[in-house]
Amino acid sequence: MRPEDLETNMLRQQILSGDLKTVVLDIDPDNIDVARMKFCADVISRGGLVCFPTETVYGLGADAFNEAAVENIFAAKGRPSDNPLIVHICDTDMTEQVASLNDAQRAAVQKLGEAFWPGPLTVIVNKSPAIPAAVTCGLDTVGVRMPDHPVARELIRLSRPIAAPSANLSGRPSPSRARHVQEDLCGRVDVIISGGDARVGVESTVLDVTGEVPVILRPGAVTREEIAEVLGACDEADWKKPADVDGKPRSPGMKYRHYSPKAEVVIYDGSDPAERRAAMARDGNEYAARGLNVGILTTDEGLEAFGDGFAVLTLGSSRNLPELTHSLFARLREFDERKTDVVLAEAIPEEGMGDAFMNRLYRAAGGTVVDIR
Ligand code: TXA
Ligand code: MG
Repeated sequence: MRPEDLETNMLRQQILSGDLKTVVLDIDPDNIDVARMKFCADVISRGGLVCFPTETVYGLGADAFNEAAVENIFAAKGRPSDNPLIVHICDTDMTEQVASLNDAQRAAVQKLGEAFWPGPLTVIVNKSPAIPAAVTCGLDTVGVRMPDHPVARELIRLSRPIAAPSANLSGRPSPSRARHVQEDLCGRVDVIISGGDARVGVESTVLDVTGEVPVILRPGAVTREEIAEVLGACDEADWKKPADVDGKPRSPGMKYRHYSPKAEVVIYDGSDPAERRAAMARDGNEYAARGLNVGILTTDEGLEAFGDGFAVLTLGSSRNLPELTHSLFARLREFDERKTDVVLAEAIPEEGMGDAFMNRLYRAAGGTVVDIR
């Protein structure tokens, strides 16, 4: 037996015998270990659960065509059974395996794929009958995405399309680092691939192309302006009011309180940064006087506005939107580690990627905003 097979054979036996509940495997995206990758694909093909890195956040994957395996995803995450999963593919042609595209959808997928795949865009299209109802929670549409990460794409290439939500416990901030996945899912999945930090740090843009005009159901790194340039038009669901006209949320995921650290999060909005920060410091002092551990989430530019009484974390320079977005979920988890009771967080303008940032922060805060005007 080759030495590289020895390791994976041992791991396989340990999993099968129940001795090892979760294997954590390092895989370097710049130098992919073929034997380890094959081992992971084998776990998927046997109906197991493998957490893998993508450019947005880590995913919790199973064979998209294996209904029992997909049901295990919901159990491992504690995910509500009416919140559908995204199916991950590794080339545009694979869309036809998971979707029943009409002409308009095929044209849209073609254009969007050329412009944004591989990348942080999920497209909602009509589902193929081959995709089990467990993936889509009974909907007749399916979300399809081609991740821009060599490990994710190799895993899909060696397996089949992979159904995967973000690899966090339901309700917790999404995992932008392997360590976050381990914190939430050790003992609940078969394998966690550790493949470095996610580049983007928030989940993909979810775009519904089944209607007349394409609609963004969840903002992400691919912006409304960029999509409109490719498709001619693009609407965005008002994520502050997720209910549709008939009272049903358009994207089932939008009705749940999400991304929440254990602390209460309060957003401070308002056009004058100095006034906004003064209000945060004043309220922070009040919370602290009541014996609460107070966290402040700000940018490099805001650091000086806050004294020693608080746990002050910065997301980076306010001029660097991708940097702010990249560290958001990691910072929310850090506040938990510091046993913070309440986090006062600075809003940023909802423009470009700022839309995705504020969507996640808003949901972490359960919609609690203090407006300083
Ligand atoms: O970046 C991402 O999208 C990550 C990585 C792992 O690819 N995945 C992710 O999956 O964020 P999840 O399950 O955490 O979020 C999927 C979102 C949910 O809000 C869900 O409601 C929505 O996509 N969704 C999935 N299928 C849908 C469908 N058929 N119609 C409407 N919304 C759908
Ligand atoms: Mg999620």
